[in-house]
Amino acid sequence: MKSEWDEWAKYYDSDLNPWLNLNEDSILKNIDFAGKSILDIGAGTGSLALKIANKSESITLLDPSKNMINIAKDKLKEFKNIIFINEYFENFKIEKKFDIIIISNVLHHIDYNNLSLKIFSLLKKKGNIVIVEPLYLKPSIFIRNIFYNNFKRYGIKRGYRMLKIIFNPRVFSHLIKEKYLKKDDIISLFNRKIIKENIINDGFYLLVLKNEK
Ligand SMILES: C[S@@+](CC[C@H](N)C(=O)[O-])C[C@H]1O[C@@H](n2cnc3c(N)ncnc32)[C@H](O)[C@@H]1O
Repeated sequence: MKSEWDEWAKYYDSDLNPWLNLNEDSILKNIDFAGKSILDIGAGTGSLALKIANKSESITLLDPSKNMINIAKDKLKEFKNIIFINEYFENFKIEKKFDIIIISNVLHHIDYNNLSLKIFSLLKKKGNIVIVEPLYLKPSIFIRNIFYNNFKRYGIKRGYRMLKIIFNPRVFSHLIKEKYLKKDDIISLFNRKIIKENIINDGFYLLVLKNEK
């Protein structure tokens, strides 16, 4: 399947990606994946899956970009408990319920109509949803992250290379088109019990919900 994300796939695991593996440790700190069945929606190149594959029961890795999925398949080839699905979440169908559903940096790409109903139809009773969503639309956070944090975190040389990528017209037009959900919109979209919520890495909202009211 062709996707606008195919082009991104080749940069995704490189140190030119300003967001390289940025939120994974925060996700790992906030939820225990041991023995759980997991659905990772918009899993990208499968970096989070790689960190939890040996402890979780199974991971269903869904992404509409064939290039992203192919990289994930290669990274995870030694694991037998991973299912790869090259599909948009909107078209995804499966007869299974999961313990944990991850939606990391993807929520704003998915059609919100019926989204929560579909998520709950795939989630076990008392299962968890883990959401990470950027808050970059707030101009002050965007500027601090893109400029100040990139240089502080990665040094002048790499920070400069990253700026060049961000301001590459194709990447920049993609970034400014994105409309991130606000914290309160996410909470009301799902309307479930909040287990944890944190602002992580200075610009991302992490929310863990439990499938009970
Ligand atoms: C910013 S990446 C996030 C990858 C990974 N979850 C992470 O946190 O690093 C967004 C991913 O969402 C996927 N995506 C875009 N639209 C989607 C949709 N409608 N359903 C499922 N995945 C989607 C893209 O192909 C891309 O791999």
